[in-house]
Amino acid sequence: MLGPVILAASRSDRMRRLISAAPVTKQVVDRFIPGETVDDIIPVVKDLTDRGLEVTLDVVGEDTTRPEQAGAARDAYLELIDRLKELELGERAEVSVKLSLFGQALPGGHELALTNVRPVVEAAAAIGTTVTLDAEDHTTLDSMFAIHDELRRDVPQTGCVIQAYLFRTEADARRLAANGSRVRLVKGAYREPASVAFQQKTEIDRAYVRVLKILMEGEGYPMIGSHDPRIISIAQELAHRAQRKLDEYEFQMLYGIRGEEHLRLAAEGHRMRVYTAYGTDWYGYFMRRLAEKPANLRFFVRSMLTR
Ligand code: FDA
Repeated sequence: MLGPVILAASRSDRMRRLISAAPVTKQVVDRFIPGETVDDIIPVVKDLTDRGLEVTLDVVGEDTTRPEQAGAARDAYLELIDRLKELELGERAEVSVKLSLFGQALPGGHELALTNVRPVVEAAAAIGTTVTLDAEDHTTLDSMFAIHDELRRDVPQTGCVIQAYLFRTEADARRLAANGSRVRLVKGAYREPASVAFQQKTEIDRAYVRVLKILMEGEGYPMIGSHDPRIISIAQELAHRAQRKLDEYEFQMLYGIRGEEHLRLAAEGHRMRVYTAYGTDWYGYFMRRLAEKPANLRFFVRSMLTR
């Protein structure tokens, strides 16, 4: 029951100010967001990749309200890619972007986001890696898919995320699977109305499996973004049935969640990518992590009370 309340708070400026200023918050935030700057994050990338994992890096932030912020976000990603170049990890270190950070919600935002994200996609391709477009709330998705199609004309390996909780997603998956896309499937982390999305966990889990089956049987590259042990074993079974080799799909999980499972899957020979967020504008990302698991909220509140 707490999840929707926390997700509502994730969009509140008042709560943002309150929580961002709380003295212990930083220490709790670090579990999910292990750095504020590119200098902080490069050693984390080295450590994860040394342990046989792959990474996708996210500069935290969303819902940009001024065009200059969108330009700054683009520059932050370009700086990151420049630093990744030195590590020579190729696709083992890719990046994930939220188009709302690139100005998508501003007037003329579709074009602005496309203009800002294109150089990032080109820079990533130039160092042999990829970009994946995150999925935000349902009102942004037609624009996100149109930008994805546009970017793929020049850089076909550009990926995108689809969310199992949305009714539209089976149809999106069929289209993306047929045209050979890299697609990360997740359950979905935003507060969505019953008119567009399943509300019950069992319904969302069933939808996830239906969509995953479409991706596994299709022509694209499925990326299984989930920590759910049941989903992971079903994914292995579906990959086997579709006769996919170990390098023809991958698992992805968030930094700070089920770290031992990351290593177990990698040790089994799977491609295992850790979504690693960094930066100072962590509020929205952090609140979605709290909403996913009540125990995280309990931990957060306890750490404030015992201070
Ligand atoms: P579920 O929520 O059922 O959790 C299964 C188990 O995983 C839990 O029982 C618990 O053990 C563990 N777990 C899950 N979340 C946890 C947490 N926050 N803290 C501690 N333990 C936790 N969403 C979106 O809308 N757009 C996007 O672009 C992305 N991108 C993305 C990338 C990657 C790589 C991942 C893994 C996830 C996303 N998400 C996302 C988030 C996603 O939609 C979803 O909210 C979370 O992954 C939680 O769902 P699970 O599939 O893990 O299952």
